[in-house]
Amino acid sequence: MPTDIRKYYRTADKYKRYHPESERRKEIETLYNTFKKYFGRKILDICCGGGILGFIVEKDGKSYVGVDINPDMISLAKEYARKTRAKKCRFYLVDAKNFLLNEKFDTITCLGNALCHINVFDWIKIMENINKMSKKRAYIILEYRDVVKLLYEKQWKEVMVYEENNKKWVDLLSGADLKRGEFLKFAFSPESNETIEFTHAIWSPFIMRAVMQVLGWEVVEERENPKWQGIIEVYKKEKKHCEFLISN
Ligand SMILES: C[S@@+](CC[C@H](N)C(=O)[O-])C[C@H]1O[C@@H](n2cnc3c(N)ncnc32)[C@H](O)[C@@H]1O
Repeated sequence: MPTDIRKYYRTADKYKRYHPESERRKEIETLYNTFKKYFGRKILDICCGGGILGFIVEKDGKSYVGVDINPDMISLAKEYARKTRAKKCRFYLVDAKNFLLNEKFDTITCLGNALCHINVFDWIKIMENINKMSKKRAYIILEYRDVVKLLYEKQWKEVMVYEENNKKWVDLLSGADLKRGEFLKFAFSPESNETIEFTHAIWSPFIMRAVMQVLGWEVVEERENPKWQGIIEVYKKEKKHCEFLISN
């Protein structure tokens, strides 16, 4: 079930939350300052949202490429880049699975639990391209939610009620596709009868680490992000990796 990502962020989430001047900026600044030693000169940000990280690292003279599939997000980012004359930030409206540049990066990031949109099979496709676009001593920084831990601790909420765009929304778990590693979710607004179906990929450090190890990356640092039961992991490129093909 492919998620209509634009609709998702206009209903079940809030794309303006990812505006470069939103509160999210403080969180990304903190992450950047905490993990600064892993940020090299050239940064590639997969699922960049409004490109907040780019506008932060640019101030330290770094160059930045942000990639996102959602036109709303890339518009926010490009508009802000024009407004602030950010010369070292580039943005691409593209599915990360199909993104390959003839350039090499020092640091690759995928932040803010963007991995909830990307199941393990799609991540492998993305990583195959990242392997081609990363320098010898590159780092990858990932920030994602440990869904298996949440389930184990019985903290996964099957029903959530919240307000968005002055409307009440109910978000339900409607099923699971455990061959693809995804929960199937459904949100609806009883007031306007709007609905959105989407998937939420199931991640946990043991899954990510196994995949990354096979693809040639080892964990060098990890921290918990208690604010949203997240984990931040830093991976370092190792010499050897096996290429394996996996069909979806
Ligand atoms: C939760 S937001 C995080 C944004 C930003 N990384 C941050 O930390 O603020 C997740 C982003 O992933 C993007 N996204 C989801 N699937 C994608 C894909 N296949 N390719 C590129 N971007 C994708 C969404 O459009 C959204 O902007």
